[in-house]
Amino acid sequence: MDGAYRTSGCGQIAKDHLTKSVCLSGWVNKRRDHGGLIFIDLRDGTGRVQVVFNPEFNQEAHKKAHDLRSEYVIRVEGTVIERSPETVNKDLPTGAFEIQVTALDVLNESKTLPFMLNEDNTDEEIRLKYRYLDLRRPYMRDRLVLRNHLFFAIRNFFFKHGFIEVETPMLTKNTPEGAREFIVPSRFSHGSVYSLPQSPQLYKQLLMVAGMERYFQIARCFRDEDLRSDRQPEFTQLDIELSFVSEEVIINLVQDMLKNVFESVYDIKFDAKFPRLTYDDAFELFGSDKPDVRYDMRINDLSELFTDTKLSFIKSVLEKGGKVGAVRVVKKQFSRSELDDWVNKAIKLGAKGLVWIRFNKDREPESPIAKFLPENFFDLASAVIKDFSVEDTLFLVADDYKDAWGTLGRLRVALAQELEVFDPDTFSFCWITDFPLFEYDDKEDRLNAMHHPFTQPKEGWESQEPSEIKARAYDLILNGVELGGGSIRINKRDVQEKVFGLLGLDKDQAQDKFGFLLEALEYGCPPLGGIAFGLDRFVMLLSKSPSIRDVIAFPKTQRGNDPMMSAPSAADPDSLKDYGLELCDEDDD
Ligand code: AMO
Repeated sequence: MDGAYRTSGCGQIAKDHLTKSVCLSGWVNKRRDHGGLIFIDLRDGTGRVQVVFNPEFNQEAHKKAHDLRSEYVIRVEGTVIERSPETVNKDLPTGAFEIQVTALDVLNESKTLPFMLNEDNTDEEIRLKYRYLDLRRPYMRDRLVLRNHLFFAIRNFFFKHGFIEVETPMLTKNTPEGAREFIVPSRFSHGSVYSLPQSPQLYKQLLMVAGMERYFQIARCFRDEDLRSDRQPEFTQLDIELSFVSEEVIINLVQDMLKNVFESVYDIKFDAKFPRLTYDDAFELFGSDKPDVRYDMRINDLSELFTDTKLSFIKSVLEKGGKVGAVRVVKKQFSRSELDDWVNKAIKLGAKGLVWIRFNKDREPESPIAKFLPENFFDLASAVIKDFSVEDTLFLVADDYKDAWGTLGRLRVALAQELEVFDPDTFSFCWITDFPLFEYDDKEDRLNAMHHPFTQPKEGWESQEPSEIKARAYDLILNGVELGGGSIRINKRDVQEKVFGLLGLDKDQAQDKFGFLLEALEYGCPPLGGIAFGLDRFVMLLSKSPSIRDVIAFPKTQRGNDPMMSAPSAADPDSLKDYGLELCDEDDD
């Protein structure tokens, strides 16, 4: 601490300082004139403290204090005294003390800010345009501090466990992770581009070929995809790779790491054995491959109850091999208008329709389709739904299995959030395993890798149809958000070539795009596997922030812009020439 500016931080003023002289510097958080006395909340990186200007103490400082405005930067000298009991501010760690000012220097003035720091309803564009002011809000600062603690705890854990952090290039070649890439034109080779890495995936595999064995990196990744509240074009991953390991070792390592991180960041101890669900089971129970397991609210298959139904829409769904699924809301009777609202919400969530069923005291069903339901419907449903009660409400969707369960999965999340059926302060992790290796892309009429093309297929794959092949992949889900994903990788050239083939790459294309990898696999690539976590997402969930943008110092808007620097900005025609580039009209796309 530079004694010329301060002998203590504002938030550090404590009992030990009583009656002593201190020097503090910071921003004027708030100024209040009370007759002869002027009070200022002085704020710096350590917190806030009240300073008082009393003409009896120093007339000149008191006079100058009249002109102070919010966000002026000042330096004060004074004596720490105790506040009278009735004026103690219990919400502030320094609330029992104040500084009787004997000298004041104005280090810098400030214009009136474009928004009030203590108001939360500021438009996000404005917040991002003046991000350096937005970050003055204590809760924004706290999020960056939490981020920093988390990164520190992670690095500590990995160093202790014999991992080395290796930086991998930013200017690289296409790394297929399913998103579009950001490209950087080359000045030396016109018409050629670098890609910014979607992840360090291939480099970390090559580091295993190099014998590094235990690698991690807090790595910046770039993906040019549509943005949402949990996605940024530029984000940070915790990237991990190990040699000579199976899934079990990686899963245990991650659980151990998270246990350690929670203990060091929050002092929270928990059982770090997260439940595991296969991809198929997760979809059947929760209609999602990232289920929020803070609450149960499972999806029930009620198709059997409708085999003889006269309801034409359900009949036709079942005849086509579809299913009837239901989300049960436990002990909740909705009003008619609430039920109508849920029908509309389900349609917005992608349902073609939603049927509700509730019961009266005599167990008789009440529903728009009540006259088509058997009288003993409650008993029939009780045989399928565990602990079913007349106080419960059912929401049904009939459709093709994937569509029906997908919609019910989204409805389940919306119902749980609106009805607040879970404790928002809990952290519930679960692993999803046994993913399909491929997913079918209807639009392009071809297979895509569900994770990435370097994932090892599960044993027996060579005799299976591509749609049946399972991957040695695992995702970690936290409160319904995909926090991380990883896999055991292919370490043999022939397997990698076959998988490329199933993905529609012929030998020449595979050689052209991934020749370096195929070659490396021929030089003794050990068995290897790893995982990567979205650290921004993790901090967002830990700090209960509404958006990933709230935990990144300088994020992009939903449209990928930086309103502060006005990036992206128009390219200078001369620099385009250097790169052999020319702009074409948008119509020429
Ligand atoms: P994956 O593509 O699943 O795996 O990414 C890992 C994790 O990164 C986070 N993430 C994002 N966070 C913010 N904004 C984005 N646009 C974004 N995209 C992804 C998610 C995700 O779970 N190379 C593999 C890992 C491996 O196999 O080891 C990979 O990148 O939390």
